[in-house]
Amino acid sequence: MNNINWHNATHHSSYGKFSQIPAVTEKPEIAFSGRSNVGKSSSINKLLNRKSLVRVSSRPGKTITINYFDIDEKIYIVDLPGYGYAKIARSEKERFGVLTEKYLQSGRVALLVQLIDFRHPPTKDDLIMLDFLRETGINHVIVLTKSDKLKKTQREKMREVFKEYKTIEFSAETGEGVEELRQVIENHGN
Ligand code: GTP
Ligand code: MG
Repeated sequence: MNNINWHNATHHSSYGKFSQIPAVTEKPEIAFSGRSNVGKSSSINKLLNRKSLVRVSSRPGKTITINYFDIDEKIYIVDLPGYGYAKIARSEKERFGVLTEKYLQSGRVALLVQLIDFRHPPTKDDLIMLDFLRETGINHVIVLTKSDKLKKTQREKMREVFKEYKTIEFSAETGEGVEELRQVIENHGN
């Protein structure tokens, strides 16, 4: 793919129900998935070099719809609601679950960016997602978030934990991994 101008980004649309999403969109969809609070929205802002195009909160459960961002009229970045947050109402949790599951099973994802907190081993929900990705063969890349919070020895320890996966170590604070992730997205974007 031709180089993407990452600064040329706009919010395109938001959907609370899968049935609202147009059946066909004209650009490759690069979706960001991961547990609530892992840093999906922050990572997207960092990739786009924007402070707050995507809304971020220290309270988990901030993103409650599927949000499409148009990047340079070449790809869509899709911010998904997070999973694994215990404190939202059960009915809402089911809505997110169904929304995300239908989205992921629809075959429309060109690349799934799966975010996992680098500081901890994958949670039960993370492992379910990783199994799901393996089983379905959805094209994906694993991004280990909040790398700025790890000291050298902890980083080495966690690298061992994740060694069976190909990963990108990433921080929305320092910008570590930004260029690597942009490259991966550009190569899988069509
Ligand atoms: P939901 O929308 O609830 O699913 O969460 P999310 O995955 O979009 O997380 P979000 O980007 O809203 O970030 C959650 C919290 O983690 C915020 O307080 C962010 O500032 C913080 N955070 C995100 N990325 C990083 C990072 O790389 N380093 C540090 N230190 N904090 C981060
Ligand atoms: Mg979010």
